[in-house]
Amino acid sequence: MAAAKNRQILLAEVPKGKLGPEHFRLTEAPIPAPKDGEVLLRVRLISLDAANRAWMQGATYREAVTAGSVMAGGAIAEVVESKAPSFSAGDLVFADTGWQDYATLPAKRLVKVPKIEPMTHLLSVYGVAGLTAYFGLLRIGEPKAGDTVVVSAAAGSVGSLVGQIGKIKGCRVVGIAGGQAKCDWLVKDLGFDAAVDYKSGSLAKALKDAAPKGIDVYFDNVGGDILEACLFQMNNGGRVACCGAISAYDGAAPPAGPRGVPGLIVVKRLTLKGFIVTDFFAERDKAIADLASWMSAGKLKVEEDVIDGLENTPRALIGLLAGDNRGKRMVKVA
Ligand SMILES: NC(=O)c1ccc[n+]([C@@H]2O[C@H](COP(=O)([O-])OP(=O)(O)OC[C@H]3O[C@@H](n4cnc5c(N)ncnc54)[C@H](OP(=O)(O)O)[C@@H]3O)[C@@H](O)[C@H]2O)c1
Repeated sequence: MAAAKNRQILLAEVPKGKLGPEHFRLTEAPIPAPKDGEVLLRVRLISLDAANRAWMQGATYREAVTAGSVMAGGAIAEVVESKAPSFSAGDLVFADTGWQDYATLPAKRLVKVPKIEPMTHLLSVYGVAGLTAYFGLLRIGEPKAGDTVVVSAAAGSVGSLVGQIGKIKGCRVVGIAGGQAKCDWLVKDLGFDAAVDYKSGSLAKALKDAAPKGIDVYFDNVGGDILEACLFQMNNGGRVACCGAISAYDGAAPPAGPRGVPGLIVVKRLTLKGFIVTDFFAERDKAIADLASWMSAGKLKVEEDVIDGLENTPRALIGLLAGDNRGKRMVKVA
């Protein structure tokens, strides 16, 4: 075994405001032994997700992360020892291992994944990010060729793929992102038709210039003021794919909601629909086949932001919430 101890990052304290390094603590524990039906895993790559912060606010589609527990998080991990018939040493899985070197988990909480190169693609294009972009846009947003699709957090892991899938489907695609460098990257490298820097000047005016025919599909990763700006520019019968609300994650109580709701929804006959990517997991094979074919045809570019070392995971999450990442952020543990 590579290490005698299991390094673990605990959520030392539930943040009341902005998340900081002081809310985490690195500790060591013995490597756990699997019981019958369980598997011992070596964590390889930890996925950094905006949702990590939302889980600290209370129960969502999963239980809240509480003070003193190992920080929760999805990861690609390798089976070291199995006491479950369905897994063998060397298998790769996706699981909520938490932020640690090793974890034991019941076999039913593991998803076996193929061994592909690079392994990082299991967390980006073929992982939650790619599947969220695929199902959220195609099944919730239902874009038609010629539609204008707007996506927020557009330079992030989900958003960067949403925009490219929108282009594959023949839409005009506008990204909203923080900073000119990210906006330039979206247009020049990823083929978005336009990008709007929400941190400079009037978002409403910039959005109107970038989407002169109005918005048919808005893929909402952020909520708050950006959702509000988009709602006012939706076309009649438009669809809002409600994917996340990152603007409301890193603080205490959520801020007041967008103005104009429900009036705008009524008058413009809008559909706002939330989803969790797992809702569509029965159709995952088809989604992965489509994503793989777009990758091999060179129609989809995947950006990954890999940070080295378990000890850097808190900093990596704090940075993601501040917009430091471009594409899918993850931490290489082993
Ligand atoms: N429904 C589902 O099943 C599902 C699954 C996965 C993810 N999600 C959601 O997808 C969204 C993206 O998450 P991710 O983990 O993939 O992260 P990500 O998009 O890779 O990174 C988050 C980005 O959000 C932007 N951001 C941060 N605060 C913001 C604010 N106040 N207003 C506007 N933009 C802000 C930052 O970029 P800028 O520099 O552009 O600000 C940052 O880079 C989140 O809302 C997450 O909850 C949903």
